[in-house]
This record gives sequence, C-alpha cells and structure tokens, in this order.
Amino acid sequence: MTDSYAVIGNPIEQSKSPFIHIAFAQVTGQDIHYTKLLAPVGGFAGEVDAFRARGGRGMNVTAPFKLDAFAYATDQAPSAQMAGAVNAMKFEGDKVYAENFDGVGLVRDLVHNLACPLKGRRVLILGAGGATRGALLPLLAEQPAELVIVNRTVAKAQALEALALQHQTGLVPVQGLGYDAVQGAFDVVLNATSSSLKAELPPLNPSVFAPDCLAYDLTYGKGLTPFLQLAQRAGVTRLADGVGMLAEQAAEAFAWWRGVRPDTAAVIAQLTVPLV
Ligand code: ATR
Repeated sequence: MTDSYAVIGNPIEQSKSPFIHIAFAQVTGQDIHYTKLLAPVGGFAGEVDAFRARGGRGMNVTAPFKLDAFAYATDQAPSAQMAGAVNAMKFEGDKVYAENFDGVGLVRDLVHNLACPLKGRRVLILGAGGATRGALLPLLAEQPAELVIVNRTVAKAQALEALALQHQTGLVPVQGLGYDAVQGAFDVVLNATSSSLKAELPPLNPSVFAPDCLAYDLTYGKGLTPFLQLAQRAGVTRLADGVGMLAEQAAEAFAWWRGVRPDTAAVIAQLTVPLV
C-alpha cells in the first residue's frame, strides 16, 4: 500500500512541501502519497487524528501549528525540545514522534551546499524567536569561535544566551545583545528575524559584515530582502536566502520517514528565486 504523508498548516496553499517530497520520492524510488492539509485554527488535533485514522504515516507542520504539534506528540526529540516547536511528526501505532529539522537544515545548507564552514568563525544571528531557538544547538555543534544573538527586545536575546550556555556541551562563547551593543565584524551573519516577511530592515549597523562574509536570510522566495540589500551595499558578495534550508530540513524529514536521504540539488535549483 502507498504510504501517506501530508503538510498541515493554515494557510497551506503556499507550501512547497508537496513539490519537494514528491520530487524526493521520484529520485529515491519511494512509493509515497503527499498532500496539503488545511486545518482550522484550534482544530489541529482533530485533523491529525483523522489523518492517522486513514493510515497516515507522517506529517510536516507549518504555521501556526508548530506548538500544537509539540503538545500533540508523545515523544519529542531533543531538537524539538530545544526549539520548543515541532516541524515533523512520524506516526507508529499510538506513538507520535516529533522532530524539528529547521536548525540542522540551516547548518547543512551553510556548511555543505554553500561551502561555508562555521568552525572557528564569528557568527552573528539576528532575532531571538523560534527560528533562532531552533538553530542554536546545531550552530554551536559546529564550534564557531563565537555566537552572538542580537535582538530588538534584549531580554529575549539574553534568555537564549542562557539557554544555549545551559545546553551546549562545548565551550563556544555565546552572547545575547541589543543592536547597539554589537561590536566587530562577523564571518557569517544570519537573519532569523521575521523582518523580511514584512519587507522591514532590522536596525543593524553594516559594519558587522566582514569583507568575505556570508549574509544569509532564513526567509526564502523574497528575492533581495532589505537585510540582503544592506549587506550588498556594505560590499558583501556572498548572499543567500533560505531555499537551501527549506530543502535540507525536508530531506532530513524524508530520511527519518523513509530511511533514505535524497540529494537536494535539483529541488534547490527548481525553487531558487533570483536574488535581485
Ligand atoms: P519566528 O518563530 O519566525 O522566529 P517569532 O518567534 O515571532 O518568529 O520572532 C520574531 C523575531 O523577529 C523576534 O526576534 C523579533 O524581534 P523582537 O523580539 O524584538 O520583537 C524579530 N523581528 C521582527 N521584526 C523585526 C524587525 N523589523 N527588526 C528587527 N527584528 C525583528
């Protein structure tokens, strides 16, 4: 029997997940069916219950249900616990296993696809919301020289600094700061705020971009966002958006469900929107 998967969200029409997973299934020869599920806000559990009753094997979870999925799951992986949110579930009998592959997808895109090793580099991440929280441990595992978290609401950056220091096993210095307090230049600057969704520019001093730095916006499909424009005006030539992160987190979920990891290059090429 063909195994069934879905992505659940509200809205859901915009989701690229069916395209990505169907492409992965074709290249790996896996026999799966993958659909979009629109759940009413407040109706997450009922939709998932019904999908499981129909034999569904797993789901991707997108806004606004990542916290509902965390509550629904019976077994949350450390990645989901650290992020406080879930983006993939696997159903086995009564068990609902939950993961969050966003952080690992980001790091794989940086290190593998963009050939930007983090070890020994100074890394700055903008924002202290769910996206940054999920990225913390995968970033620290790469042993950067330093990780600085910058946020408008300084207390949230400081809270993530404390969380990172509490959980990391290495000795990477971590600091949570306000935009005014950031000093020096960074090799990798990651925009994990939601600013690009609103075409806004974080109050970032362009002196943070080191000459050979990579400027990376976790948003995808928005072209040259205000953050990437700021980097470009500061002389940065290595610019990227989150299309690779999107494909890599999907590949992690696919491998978790199916036991085979698809190559992502073709999917990334097809989903890439030029940075102009
Ligand atoms: P997500 O789950 O996508 O991380 P979130 O938890 O709502 O979303 O967090 C959004 C983040 O983007 C926050 O760090 C927010 O900063 P504040 O905590 O100070 O509000 C940040 N953010 C949103 N718009 C921004 C902007 N225009 N400039 C700078 N930071 C912005």
